[in-house]
Amino acid sequence: MSNVSFRSVSKTYGNVRALDNLELDIREGEFISLLGPSGSGKSTTLNLLAGLQDVSGGRVFIGERDVTDLPPEKRDLALVFQNYALYPHMTLFENIAFPLRAKSPVPSASDIERKVRSTAEALGIGDLLARYPKEISGGQQQRVALGRAMVRDPRVFLLDEPLSNLDARLRIRMRRDLRALHAQLRSTIVYVTHDQSEAMTLSDRIAVFSDGKLQQLGTPEDIYYRPANTFIANFIGDREANLFPVEISRVGDRLELAGAGLTIRLDRALDAAKARSALAGIRPDSVELVAPDSSQASGVAEVVDQELVGADLYVFVKTGAGVEICSRRDPRQRLRLGEPVGISVRQGDVHLFDASTEVCISPGDAGILERQE
Ligand SMILES: Nc1ncnc2c1ncn2[C@@H]1O[C@H](COP(=O)(O)OP(=O)(O)OP(=O)(O)O)[C@@H](O)[C@H]1O
Ligand SMILES: [Mg+2]
Repeated sequence: MSNVSFRSVSKTYGNVRALDNLELDIREGEFISLLGPSGSGKSTTLNLLAGLQDVSGGRVFIGERDVTDLPPEKRDLALVFQNYALYPHMTLFENIAFPLRAKSPVPSASDIERKVRSTAEALGIGDLLARYPKEISGGQQQRVALGRAMVRDPRVFLLDEPLSNLDARLRIRMRRDLRALHAQLRSTIVYVTHDQSEAMTLSDRIAVFSDGKLQQLGTPEDIYYRPANTFIANFIGDREANLFPVEISRVGDRLELAGAGLTIRLDRALDAAKARSALAGIRPDSVELVAPDSSQASGVAEVVDQELVGADLYVFVKTGAGVEICSRRDPRQRLRLGEPVGISVRQGDVHLFDASTEVCISPGDAGILERQE
């Protein structure tokens, strides 16, 4: 069952098309992230759902109800923004209790006490409740804002970059807390972020936006292993995908790709009507560097650069055709600049895209993990 639906929703500001014909169904109880680069339309989508802005076209539904013309307070949503505002003259306890006291009927004092305390405990701010907002850090304030939204038990939570003010480590810890929270509350959460690893770890499904358009909707595994187009292949993952033109020939029921100085064989059929040439997309994770004379090598190349990032070493090699390919490997296997290497590609991880539309015509078939519930 879906409990939020966007039907052909558009939003324009003057001649800026912030959101273009959005069709999106959000399921009851799911954690869905709206992911995309800055300016892609994520906050616009959230604000239209919240009723903070009016649509330029289309309809928005929550449950069976068309809420397009309803004001925000009639939509049964809770919002937490990047720039949350706490009440400065109230303690954290009173800040979190505020929405409870606004309910009718007002819950009993002991119910309020219990709810505020358990929420604050879940957020790791249980011992700060007597303080005022100016007496805590920005990250703690952000958690108070989350708590204030949580105590309301709304149908849908809307969170716009709620962890943006936290330091990197706390952000990662908060991810686990948020996941645990979702498992406990089971409410629908719509979560805006431009951080793809955050979206990957938190979400049941991810909606990826660029230029005001929904580019792909799917589980983190779908988005990672079956990118719908080259934008997704580049945007998702720690590094951009290696992307290069290939000529496709069919050898029996296999495909042979020739391009970038490589010859890659795929145990895969492709509709004969589809292109003879395409763009191949391969993530650095799926490129292995082997001995130049290895039978696994699809071609040879020379090491031109290396970048050590924590536990990962990114090695850039240049093929005979002058194309640069990036491979991720173990830093203990550092190579020398100028060293000749063979390029071995995990064939199940090769995606083919239409050369002109850049839409995926043949996704890789490997690596899809069953999602553990
Ligand atoms: N009030 C406004 N007036 C004019 N243009 C706007 C307004 N709000 C947003 N836009 C434009 O609409 C587009 C989408 O903006 P939106 O805020 O939805 O992006 P976003 O994906 O949330 O980006 P960010 O990650 O930077 O928050 C952008 O081009 C933005 O400049
Ligand atoms: Mg935004």
